[in-house]
Amino acid sequence: MKVKRFTLTLLLLCSWCFATEPIAVYLTWKECPESSMVVQWITMDDETSDCVYYSMGNSHTSHAGLGSHKALPQDPRYLVHCVELGNLTPDSTYSFRLKPEGKCYSFHTMPAQLNRPVRFIAGGDMYHETLAMLRETNQQAAKTNPDFALVGGDIAYAAGKKPHSKEDIARWIEWIQSWYEDMVTDEGCLIPFLPVIGNHDVNGAFGQTPKEATTFYTLFATPGDQGYNVIDFNNYLSIILLDSGHTHPIEGEQTKWLAQTLENRSAIPNKFALYHVTAFPSARKFIDVYPIKIRKHWVPIFEHFGLTAAFENHDHAYKRTPPIRNNKAVDADGVVYIGDGGWGAKPRKPHSDKKTWYLAKTARARNFVLVTINPDGHRQLDAYDEKGNQIDHASF
Ligand SMILES: [Fe+2]
Repeated sequence: MKVKRFTLTLLLLCSWCFATEPIAVYLTWKECPESSMVVQWITMDDETSDCVYYSMGNSHTSHAGLGSHKALPQDPRYLVHCVELGNLTPDSTYSFRLKPEGKCYSFHTMPAQLNRPVRFIAGGDMYHETLAMLRETNQQAAKTNPDFALVGGDIAYAAGKKPHSKEDIARWIEWIQSWYEDMVTDEGCLIPFLPVIGNHDVNGAFGQTPKEATTFYTLFATPGDQGYNVIDFNNYLSIILLDSGHTHPIEGEQTKWLAQTLENRSAIPNKFALYHVTAFPSARKFIDVYPIKIRKHWVPIFEHFGLTAAFENHDHAYKRTPPIRNNKAVDADGVVYIGDGGWGAKPRKPHSDKKTWYLAKTARARNFVLVTINPDGHRQLDAYDEKGNQIDHASF
């Protein structure tokens, strides 16, 4: 009897230690990137533990964070786990495991003050073609070793073709696995990201509710049920995440929220917005319905409250506008719009930057941008194609 019990214990221990690693592990924030991290991971439904064992640097003192999990509504065989870690030390590297003897992962918290350059990447329109095309750009973006990433919608192109099918889930899983495998810094830290929704992330594209985008809202702790949100990096940076009419109307509540959110942050020196459809399209029509709505409802608020720049997507080309105010290009004191998607999508031919008043630079290229915010206030933009070739450089 004793031998049997010992054998069973040994078997359980072995299965615990050598159980399959998660399908993907990924990081985001709900608040305070200087002192918190949201750890998420995906498993099959027989792995129900929601615990993160973590420690700072090489410390042997390990803490445990507990969270919860939800099944993916379209395919409940998959569980999405979420643990929010708080009271972390700013600008510090942490290691974590999802089982006491499991694989070790790392992340780095953001600084509490802008006392070193802060660097982030932005891009969208990701898993449009092949996985190889997506991963080519992923790997170039990861090489820049950013602190974090902004993911601008049309993430997995999983909605709309076969709504509510398991094929949709397969595309989401492939996208998140590719992020998990590729988006790691040279120091081995997973790169946190803040996502917004695009038209291909929701069944019906525009004018829907979160019920038509259940996978997006289950996979990502941010932006949460409201669908739009703001993340404040203490008092030096705010990122505003918006829904360009896919599961929340542009006008009305969201616009009201945007105005109040920017007014409350008038003293923040670096304020960026991220959303999917463009106000100033590089390849599509200037007079399309959604660009018109964004220019009518959001752009005046951006200008009034001094938004630094907006990251736009959806057009599958590269663009940077001049500073814009009152529908005119200005030398300074305007809002710069940067985009326009094309991380993993075949690039479209953009409008001419010589003939279009609102375009300072365009390129027919798959792309991502790297933004650097320096302690002296200088901001720099570098844009790259999927091979790592630099296609733009500007101060803004
Ligand atoms: Fe799109």
